[in-house]
Amino acid sequence: MKLSTHVFQRISDQGMPIISVDNPQASLELSLFGGHVLSYMPKRDNRQRLWMSPKAVMDGSKAIRGGIPVCWPWFGAAAEPALPAHGFVRDQMWQVLRVDDDNDLTRIQLQPEFSHLAGGGQLELMLELLIGEQLTVNLVTHNRQSKSLRFGGALHSYFRVKHIDQVVVDGLSGAYMDKVGNLLVEETPSPYVITQETDRIQLNAVSDVHIREAGQQTAIGFSGHDSIVVWNPWQDKSAQMGDMTTDGYQQMLCIEAAITQGIELAPGHSHTLTQIIG
Ligand code: BG6
Repeated sequence: MKLSTHVFQRISDQGMPIISVDNPQASLELSLFGGHVLSYMPKRDNRQRLWMSPKAVMDGSKAIRGGIPVCWPWFGAAAEPALPAHGFVRDQMWQVLRVDDDNDLTRIQLQPEFSHLAGGGQLELMLELLIGEQLTVNLVTHNRQSKSLRFGGALHSYFRVKHIDQVVVDGLSGAYMDKVGNLLVEETPSPYVITQETDRIQLNAVSDVHIREAGQQTAIGFSGHDSIVVWNPWQDKSAQMGDMTTDGYQQMLCIEAAITQGIELAPGHSHTLTQIIG
């Protein structure tokens, strides 16, 4: 089904609605399950920016391992044990609100089926993708209630790398909280290389990070975040995860635009969490 000049919708072999964008600048695939970007490839170099696990479950029974999961309205473990980690929008159906094609840019806006918070509060959520020479992902939270509400989340992007051993991350600085080290606060290393299981909440919310490897680099821009999460499960954890291959960790690195400390949103206000992938 054609949604616009450059945008089509199809049903995957596993019965999930998939949106495909192919415009003069880039191609992208998006799953309506999770409002989840699956792939993004700018045409200037035809290099896939996002990593997808070969064992990702794509039938709607659990969140997809790879691409850009949307974590909202909380990051990480929930306050109540019965609730899922990383919120409840990455495993529900989303719907398309709007599609626009300009010559060089395609804009898609989506919303999840529901966005209620525990405790009865309701925030409105919208995901906007601007697909062109760069991919801009805007996650917009709007408070239409008469009281302030607190939320968190992340654009949990999985970047594809040639080999994790060759990666240097540039741009991170200051203190980080080490989730594999009892949340101890450590100083950001320089050079920033990944040599073991890494799960860090970088507390200095810088606006530009680069993943550098021989012959290529990926620029990542951020705004509206209070931290940047860097995650690689390494070998043992990959082997334990049903939707990752044992050596899957070698080709990926998550660098997430995150709200880990929480944002208090006043009535009538909105907040935009942005990640720009170049
Ligand atoms: C990261 C967290 O953002 O996501 C990690 O910091 C977590 O602690 C990882 O393991 C993956 O989470 P999930 O729920 O997708 O397996």
